[in-house]
Amino acid sequence: MRYVQYCKYAGLIVVLFGFQNSSAQKKTIDQKVDSVLNLMTLEEKAGQLNQYSGDWSFTGPVTKDNTKIQQVKEGKLGSMLNVVGVEKTRLLQQYAMQSRLKIPLLFGQDVIHGFRTTFPLPLAEAASWDLEAIQLSARISAIETSAAGVHWTFAPMVDISRDPRWGRVMEGAGEDTYLGSLIAAARVKGFQGKGLGNTDVVMACAKHFAAYGAAVGGRDYNSVDMSPRMLWETYLPPFFAAKEAGAATFMNSFNDLNGIPATGNRYLQRDILKGKWNFNGFVVSDWASIGEMIAHGFAKDTSHAAQLGLSAGSDMDMESRSYIKHLPQLVREGKVKIEWLDDAVRRILRKKFELGLFDDPFKFSNEHRQQQQWNNPQHIAAAREMAKKSIVLLKNHPLPGEVGVGTLPLTNNQKVALIGPFVKAVKDNLGFWSMEWEDDSARIVPLWKGMLNKVDPANLLYAKGCNINDADTSGFAEAIETAKQSDVVVITIGEARDMSGEAKSRSSLQLPGVQNQLIAAIAATGKPIVLLIHAGRPLIFDKAASHASAILYTWWLGTEAGNAIADVLYGDYNPSGKLPITFPRTEGQIPIYYNHYSTGRPAEDEFQNNYVSAYIDLPNSPAYPFGYGLSYTSFVFTDFKLSSTSLKGNQTLTASITLTNTGRVKGKETVQLYIRDLVGKVVRPVKELKGFKQVELNPGESKVITFTITTNDLRFYDDQLIYNWEPGEFEIMIGSNSKEVQVKKINWSR
Ligand code: BGC
Repeated sequence: MRYVQYCKYAGLIVVLFGFQNSSAQKKTIDQKVDSVLNLMTLEEKAGQLNQYSGDWSFTGPVTKDNTKIQQVKEGKLGSMLNVVGVEKTRLLQQYAMQSRLKIPLLFGQDVIHGFRTTFPLPLAEAASWDLEAIQLSARISAIETSAAGVHWTFAPMVDISRDPRWGRVMEGAGEDTYLGSLIAAARVKGFQGKGLGNTDVVMACAKHFAAYGAAVGGRDYNSVDMSPRMLWETYLPPFFAAKEAGAATFMNSFNDLNGIPATGNRYLQRDILKGKWNFNGFVVSDWASIGEMIAHGFAKDTSHAAQLGLSAGSDMDMESRSYIKHLPQLVREGKVKIEWLDDAVRRILRKKFELGLFDDPFKFSNEHRQQQQWNNPQHIAAAREMAKKSIVLLKNHPLPGEVGVGTLPLTNNQKVALIGPFVKAVKDNLGFWSMEWEDDSARIVPLWKGMLNKVDPANLLYAKGCNINDADTSGFAEAIETAKQSDVVVITIGEARDMSGEAKSRSSLQLPGVQNQLIAAIAATGKPIVLLIHAGRPLIFDKAASHASAILYTWWLGTEAGNAIADVLYGDYNPSGKLPITFPRTEGQIPIYYNHYSTGRPAEDEFQNNYVSAYIDLPNSPAYPFGYGLSYTSFVFTDFKLSSTSLKGNQTLTASITLTNTGRVKGKETVQLYIRDLVGKVVRPVKELKGFKQVELNPGESKVITFTITTNDLRFYDDQLIYNWEPGEFEIMIGSNSKEVQVKKINWSR
């Protein structure tokens, strides 16, 4: 027999291909893709590029349409988002199997930090600096998501952002390109596990390509104006890292980049991603972003938008319906090259083949598997671990009269007053991008429950004090009375779950509502205060901080939030998180980031004389620098040594430092390596992260930490955008955060 049966469920559809049946299995995926493509009409091709949302949940305007199922049966749909669960996905896949060519549907979903088990938000996970743990979190998300019939997550978001006004900082890995690139790769590897074709993986989607995190004014969806060097040096590397890690798909972005909407941006999608980087997956548009090129003033109508989008390399149209409406006609009129349409279809079909959906469109539709992964105790335990690692200790002063012992950890015999709107809050622990389930209130662990799980209830007092974001002070009196009965007050403050996320830009990063007043009122009792700050972004909380003996930044930590916070409060876990983003003193400092240029009139951190690059009303230094985070123990860095101070060509430099735990408990430090190129063809940042190592030490224990540096670590994009290193002098810096470092100078010649 002379055919290749490309789809077991296609039944009668066979493709004449010129090979013996026995060799059919050996056909490459590309050959199989072509065999399908050859059968497709223009309408069916446009259908593969078309993606609709299910009507269950959504993040943009959904076109009401009761013909969706009919369109699936007619092969006018390649993918759906917001359809989860074995039952629903199977039903829709069954409809797809009624279409002429029986091409399976792809189901995609925003699984950003967990599916059934919610992990800390991505910015919080980044604070762990623990790549293995981050990879595991993505792995678990993939296991749970794929068990629910879904093939694809719209994650990781790898947008660098230096502007905490932008609500989506919560969804990325922070401000640093080096850390962000490593995390991007870890997440992709976690999602895609041992590779597409396995049933416990989902396709990753690196988004939003590109530079979405640099929206002017931190306003979501806003324009981005950026130099090519900044783009290449700071914003593109995490995308490249995701691509190198094998990300199956990319999503473009809502913003325009230097006047060209990213969705219609040929330079980004065709020249860089599919050209220079040789990406062989496909690009999905962001929600309706193809149609939105009309509002940008870039396309005159949906037909023009479809023409521009496809020509620029946007392969799949999420919810704008421009492709399905116009592409066949645009190709007939010669306005869109058939080669480009075919290329987009091929890219999508290839992923469907790689996932194994042509062999079995229902391979992700297994009730038993779904059931097994529903409340997997190992996943819940991993979420608790990740949550502990994400918490950052920002302050830990001793209690009055005590020396050398911080306010934290608490002890079991202390009477603790838990005050604030987050003590018993449930859903706020989940953060903006998380799936909601009917039994959430029973399974999410709020702080109150986590504390009850840990200590004698007789030692716990509670008063809400105030709501998150209104002017009501009627709960203050009760809160004050409760505080008075305690040894120590733990006050939970911060943002509501829907205050950071998509379309959640804020011009003010202050604590909302009457939270500051509540803290001041409690402080007047004279009781020591521990602050827990729940937020999706860096907030400005200087007033609250001035009243606090200790501060833990607890972000939104997911399903196990309460248990994890209680673990840290009582010292069962010694906090080890480090900030992945600079915390400003005021909004006026934004954008603020540690790896800035020096300027011709550099300012020291603190108040300055006139005529230097500084504010007259504020120091340049942030409230908390990038990389900052304390521990219940103390660490000392000694014996900073370099293998040489004068290097040549391809030689390797070894930098070492001895780290000693000088405190009383076991603890983990993240030792950070920064480099500065002192003179360059183009100016270079005052320091750049180039390595880090996490080390756990017992009290009194020391360890030598070693970094190996090559000229690869010295490379940058020069004035001609050539990525190379230049000989000259460099500073090598090692320390516990971007501010507190020891410095040594070297010379590196050709
Ligand atoms: C967001 C994307 C998301 C998509 C689908 C858009 O509004 O920008 O990040 O993947 O919606 O929900």
